[in-house]
Formats: sequence, C-alpha cells, structure tokens
Amino acid sequence: MKRTHTCGELTLKNIDQDVILQGWVTKVRKMGAMNFIDLRDRYGITQLVIDESISLENVKSEYVLEVHGKVIERKSKNLELLTGEIEIKVANLILINKSELTPFEIKDGIESQEDTRLTYRYLDLRRPEMQNNLLVRSKMNHVIRNFFIEDNFIEIETPIFGKSTPEGARDFLVPSRLNAGKFYALPQSPQLYKQLFMISGLDRYFQIVKCFRDEDLRIDRQPEFTQLDMEMSFADAQDVMNTIEALIKKVIFEIKGIEIKESIQKITWKESMEKYGNDKPDLRFGFEIQTLNEIFKETQVPLFSNLEDKSIRAICVDSLLSKKELEDLTEVAKQNSVNILAFAKYDLNEWSGSVGSKLSDNEKESIIKTFNIQKESTVLFIVEEYYKATQAMGSIRNRIAKVLNLLDPEVMKLAWIVDFPLFEFSEEENRYVAAHHPFTMPADQSLENFDTNKQEALAKAYDIVLNGFEIGGGSQRITDSTIQQRMFDAVGLTKEQIETNFGWFINSYKYGAPYHAGCALGLDRICMLLTGSENIREVIAFPKNSSGIDPMTNAPDTVTTQQLDELNIKLK
Ligand code: AMO
Repeated sequence: MKRTHTCGELTLKNIDQDVILQGWVTKVRKMGAMNFIDLRDRYGITQLVIDESISLENVKSEYVLEVHGKVIERKSKNLELLTGEIEIKVANLILINKSELTPFEIKDGIESQEDTRLTYRYLDLRRPEMQNNLLVRSKMNHVIRNFFIEDNFIEIETPIFGKSTPEGARDFLVPSRLNAGKFYALPQSPQLYKQLFMISGLDRYFQIVKCFRDEDLRIDRQPEFTQLDMEMSFADAQDVMNTIEALIKKVIFEIKGIEIKESIQKITWKESMEKYGNDKPDLRFGFEIQTLNEIFKETQVPLFSNLEDKSIRAICVDSLLSKKELEDLTEVAKQNSVNILAFAKYDLNEWSGSVGSKLSDNEKESIIKTFNIQKESTVLFIVEEYYKATQAMGSIRNRIAKVLNLLDPEVMKLAWIVDFPLFEFSEEENRYVAAHHPFTMPADQSLENFDTNKQEALAKAYDIVLNGFEIGGGSQRITDSTIQQRMFDAVGLTKEQIETNFGWFINSYKYGAPYHAGCALGLDRICMLLTGSENIREVIAFPKNSSGIDPMTNAPDTVTTQQLDELNIKLK
C-alpha cells in the first residue's frame, strides 16, 4: 500500500519522518498564512499544516486526500488525541476523490433523523462512534470463536432454507420455484439441526448464525438477528450454564475490562416476577416490589378495601417524586392497562399524597418497616389482579430508574433466571403452548405430572439477563421418546401434525441419542449493552427501521408479475 501510516498512529516518536497519509477531510481551517486540515480514517485523526504555496481552493469536507509530508511537533498540543502532539507539514497534496455535501455531518453525537442515517448508512458508518460499535462486534465474535475452539467445540453451519414448523414466532417464508406451491422457512434458530448434531456424535457444536423471526419490532428486536448458538452432549443444564457463564464473563472482560469474579446469581422465574415484575430484571438498582395485602387487612383507605382477588403491589423510591415524575409514571401504568397509580409521600415527619393522608398509624409503621424506610420516600401502589399489577409495577420500576438516572451503562449486572414455567396459556389459540419450545425437558419435580398439571409444570430452561435485557436462553432437551410424546400431547399436537412437522426429527432419537443441553445468546443485544447503545440498530451495519423497512434499498419491495408467475404466486 502507498500510505506509510494510518491517521491514528503518529506521535512524537515519529518526529522528522517522511510519511504518506490517505484519508477523508474532516475540517479545513484557515489561520493567517497557514491552513490546517484534520484528516480522518478508521484509526483516528491527524492534523495537517499547509502553507500558502499549496492551494486549498479545491479541498472540502469529506474529500479524499493523499498527503506527503514530514512529522513535526505541534505548538498547541491536543492531549486528548493520540496524535495530538504532532502534525504533518505537507509537501505535496493529491486529491483522490471529491465528495458532495453530506446529508449530515460526519461526527459523533449527531441529531439527524434515524431514517436519514439509514438511507445514507454508508456515511453513517463513517462516523467514529458507529465504527467503534462495529469494531466491538468484531472483537466480541473473535473472543467467542477463540473461547469455543479452545474448548473443543466445532463451528458447523446449518441451512437457511428449512421447513416451517409450528410453535414459536411467525416464520419468514421463501417460495420454491422448482416446487410450485411449496415454501421454505427461514430459521428462527438452528434448534433442531443442533440437536441432530448431538445424535451424530459431534458432541460440542457452536455457530455464530443469522436467525429470522417475523415479530413486531422493538428496541431490542430485529427481524434478522445474530445468535451465538451452542449445544453440548453428555451435558446437563448446569454444564451449559457454566460454559456460557465463563464465556460472557470473558467477553465483558475483554471488551469492557470489567472482571466479574462472583458466580452469576440464580433467580427463579417466580421470584423474579414477584420482586421485579418481569423475567429480565435490571439489577443495577433495587426498588423491589412488595405485596402489601396483609398490612391493609383492616384498612379505612377506600382503594385498599374490598380487594376480593386483587393484590396491592407497591414499591418505595428513596426520594420525594415531583408531580411531573408522578404523572410520567401514571402514564406508564396506563400503557400497562392500569388506570390508578396511587402514592404516599413521606418526608420523615408527615405523610401526604393520594393515599398518604389516609393511612392509619399502624399502616404507616408497617410500611416504614416493610421497606426499611430511612430517608424521604415515595411509596407507589397498584391494586389489580396479581400479574397485571406486577407487570405494570415492573415497567414503573424500570422507568423510575431512568428518571432518577440510575442506569449506568458501565455497570454490568448479570443474572440467571431458572425454573421457568414449561407452558404458557395462549389466549389466541385457547390452549397451553410450550413456553420455550416443545423439546424442553420438564424439571425433575414436574416429570410425573407435567401433562396433567400444566399450570404449575416447570422446565429445565434458563435465561441469562444483563442489565434488564434477556441476552440468552437455553434448556436441557428431551431425549426420551415417552416424555417427548407426552409433551406433544400436552400442547395438543395430533399424531398427523407431529408426523408431518417433526416426524423426521423424532425419528432421529430412535438411534442412540446422548443426553444434551444448549443455549443461544443474542449477540446484537449483548453488543448494544457493551457499547451503551440505545437500541440494537446502532450495532447492526444495515438494520431495518422500526417498521421493518430498509430506507436505503427500500426493501421489502414489490416484484414483477413475471417473478410472481415463475413462483406460481398470485397476490390477493
Ligand atoms: P431464544 O428464542 O431465547 O432461544 O433466543 C435466544 C436469544 O436470541 C435473542 N433474540 C433476539 N435478538 C434480536 N432480535 C430478535 N428478534 C430476537 N429474538 C431472540 C435474545 C434471546 O435470548 N433455540 C433457542 C436456544 C436454545 O434453546 O438453545 C433460542 O433461539 O437475546
């Protein structure tokens, strides 16, 4: 290559060297008889100093330049930049290419509309913070691959064109031209293939793999996303959790320099719902939810009387929330279909607020004791059916942390959520469906009656949570055909449905299957958290916007009648 150095590496050590740099113009400044240019590439920025003999009439922001010159010491140093103590005295300047005025400035912290950034994503990716996000992602993949290869795992690719099977999210379908009327499905995950690898005796599999799910998009969801997928033979749930725990700690250490020495705590699904109102608790802050029905058994407070089957769920915030903050939290309650968010403020002397003024002395005392109140506080209450109240309180708990600025992206709080329900009730289908997938082993204590007591059956499934996001999940698999059959019966799959959908898969378990378990991590989510990004689109080179569209290419788009004809498809 012609360049002798990048724009991010020259220091006082290089004084007097003749160098050639190539890069983009970030800024042109005129100062008396001298001109200055900041030249940028992926590695950094170097200041160029140019005397009057070289014309800069034709040099503008984002032009691509090649400069030949000598490294000299800078008079006014910028110690924030690695290259800030030197500059290049330019002898020769060559224009490699021009640039039109860019639709937004190529710098960090811009306030451009997201769709504009996505339309010109190649320019957005020229910005240092975006390049850093992709660099972190690359480094994360590197750490993951090394970790598994060193531990005897093999990376194996699985098909992208597969078969649509029920259970799980909605599939993306691909019509087959050669087989009119038939469709491939894009994989939601390589789940069944990786289980087959275990039957093949491949023993330890991993893959960094694209997965596809046709779901509504959120800040942590994309229709195509990347998993680290793994499976281990002769391994139980705890073996897999140990491996994933070591991996995630290594990734966090290599990328953030944070060493997590203690074991990741395990929280049962039930306890997580009870204390945090969801199964992905953010443990960077407290505000645990309490049930206060006992305290208000004999109450005169109208809201807490005649409860029937309702629960009083409450949290205590150790500050006096303002009217505006309370309104904001009420809005969160409403988004969760809860109309009343009651509150009591306590300034260590008096109680006030919608409920505070009505409390009896006993009730006040019990609340102080329950929450161990030591300073000015606001207690928030929801009176609703248990899960509705709990979920709403969980959202409020998260919002409070945001409002009070307690979400430090430099703190990494991990947890395992265990003892998940084996089934969940689908209102849409009016039946119990597998909560994880129908190949998940029931927990030991549920083995006897999971199919008759679906409501209480637990699974040998586990999720790993980081700072309030589910970053991965997995389970012990069913390797016993009797248990598998009971599971299919429990979710109401008929013999024909099993045969057409999973016959090929069930068959494989007749040929000597080792017991096995596995896990998959959501790499986009992990990278979002490692980079402190607001959403996963920030760490994906070419993501879809929140409507599932790529504004740059305008995908998805219509196709020609001829294309449809070839596929034997007629649009409704
Ligand atoms: P699960 O469905 O829990 O498990 O997925 C694993 C992890 O993938 C991430 N994830 C997503 N990330 C971005 N966008 C999405 N739409 C999206 N959906 C999921 C999450 C999640 O924790 N086959 C099983 C794993 C196993 O049992 O081994 C599976 O896919 O971080």
